[in-house]
Amino acid sequence: MSHNKQVALVTGANRGIGFELVKQLALNGFRVILASRDLEKGYEAAQRLEQSGLDVTFVQMDVDDQDSIRQASLTVNETFGRLDVLINNAGVYLDENELFMTMDPSILEKTMSTNFFGVYHVIRTFIPLMKKRSFGRIINISSEYGVMNEMSERGVGAYKLSKLALNALTRLAAAEIQGDIKINAVCPGWVSSDMGGPAAPRTPKQAAESILWLATIGPEGPQGGFFRDGKAIDW
Ligand SMILES: NC(=O)c1ccc[n+]([C@@H]2O[C@H](COP(=O)([O-])OP(=O)(O)OC[C@H]3O[C@@H](n4cnc5c(N)ncnc54)[C@H](OP(=O)(O)O)[C@@H]3O)[C@@H](O)[C@H]2O)c1
Repeated sequence: MSHNKQVALVTGANRGIGFELVKQLALNGFRVILASRDLEKGYEAAQRLEQSGLDVTFVQMDVDDQDSIRQASLTVNETFGRLDVLINNAGVYLDENELFMTMDPSILEKTMSTNFFGVYHVIRTFIPLMKKRSFGRIINISSEYGVMNEMSERGVGAYKLSKLALNALTRLAAAEIQGDIKINAVCPGWVSSDMGGPAAPRTPKQAAESILWLATIGPEGPQGGFFRDGKAIDW
């Protein structure tokens, strides 16, 4: 029977919001693939969920590495033969205390590599698995830092630009995708993960709850949108 269950994959899911997304997808009846760039951390995280009875498996995937993405897609195809939900969650936040024009350019390159190109390559590599069944739900974890007005404020330029580009990628892909495949971006709010820090008001659990409605939208659901707590953000 489990083979009729929808299959979901979450990138960067060994900790933080990604880990909680995996947990909640599994609790909601999905077979979930926990993707992590680190073999040991990913395996250990998936095992913790499996041991509590959840249908979770692990695949290694570094979104900065196209070979790693390709290898992960081959593994998913061989093991499951389908992918229904893809959540692009992996991300870095490297320029909290930097100014855009004076920081080391490698910070911008690294940030774009993970937060923008990583998502671009993951989508391109995994979408054939969705096209096979003309069905898919893609969720890009973005940030309100990526709205155009934020570009007028000093600082955090690499991260802001990466999320602005991610939002644009979401629209570009939405305009070209055919069949019942939806792609949307979402802001999880300020979340108490390693990235968000302990002062953040929202838990990863609350963040995941505010995101997962996009995994189960029907064919009439939104396409190419950007949301927070179910409300469209004008960016
Ligand atoms: N926390 C917030 O307040 C907040 C607000 C808005 C948006 N977001 C977004 O939410 C998403 C998740 O953030 P989080 O707060 O859960 O952050 P986090 O706790 O720092 O976790 C980030 C995850 O991404 C993974 N990752 C980084 N680079 C990767 C790569 N090249 N390949 C694969 N995985 C990679 C990390 O893996 P390792 O463990 O191996 O480093 C980790 O699992 C991010 O896209 C972030 O931009 C967060």
